[in-house]
Amino acid sequence: MTNDPTILLVAPTFYDVSYSINPWMDPTAWARDPGGMHRRALASFDALHDALGRAGFAVEVVQGAAGQPDMVFPANAAVVLDGKAVLARFRYPERRGEEQPFASIFDDLRARGLVDTVALLPEGCFQEGAGDCIWDARRGHFWAGFGPRSSREAADAMARAFDREVVALELATAQSYHLDVCFCPLSGGEVLYYPPAFTENALRMLRARVPVAQRIEATEDDLRHFSVNAVNLDEHVVMTRTTSHLRHELGRRGYRLHEVDLTPYMLSGGGAYCMTLRLDRTSTPVRRAAAA
Ligand code: ARG
Repeated sequence: MTNDPTILLVAPTFYDVSYSINPWMDPTAWARDPGGMHRRALASFDALHDALGRAGFAVEVVQGAAGQPDMVFPANAAVVLDGKAVLARFRYPERRGEEQPFASIFDDLRARGLVDTVALLPEGCFQEGAGDCIWDARRGHFWAGFGPRSSREAADAMARAFDREVVALELATAQSYHLDVCFCPLSGGEVLYYPPAFTENALRMLRARVPVAQRIEATEDDLRHFSVNAVNLDEHVVMTRTTSHLRHELGRRGYRLHEVDLTPYMLSGGGAYCMTLRLDRTSTPVRRAAAA
């Protein structure tokens, strides 16, 4: 496996918005100007690639497959920790066709030494990758989202697959259909989250583990900007163009924002984090300095 901060991206060659499996997806808006949208999507992808580089990541770009537009969201393809990749099982038929191409991509990554092992989850559960199973480097456990996409049992399967604690949070709305839409742990121990996305029980669990000084509550406007869906490395935070609320809130805590216009991907219900997958995560406690 690789020890450098490394991010996987999938080239947007086959990206479009042609079906709707979450309330943000707008095939009609896309169909008004598919050519223009596609060009904007390519430009946004390049801007994201650059921003990730500036934040300190090595970026690996792989090819997607024709007819599988949502492969540009590799956060949903697998969960990776300590060199082990556990492949996703998608809930919707629209995305199930990604499982095969992603399996080949991961075989390739293994052949190139970027991951060590590739494993499957037991059948009969849904699990949509790192979008619904987020490693908290500060606390040393996963947070899993379940309900709209991943199933509750998938959290236990992940705990067994990685031999790590998984704290399962139930998502209460269709809008926050993956955990990464409404929840983002940061390098300094803060958690950026949107409270209305969670059931009361999930909020209780979250707040029991994250002291109030470390909670950053996102507003509905922050959520609509897909700003909770952020990629964090040390003090760097890569996200869609955000709100003055979050610029201020993250800025005063010492984070440096890299904002990218990801509008064509927001039309599919995605932001910066969805478009990435970290390949180098390890379970050993992170001793890097928090934000300045
Ligand atoms: N259109 C995709 C879907 O609904 C968007 C996925 C975004 N990924 C994420 N991790 N939130 O599945």
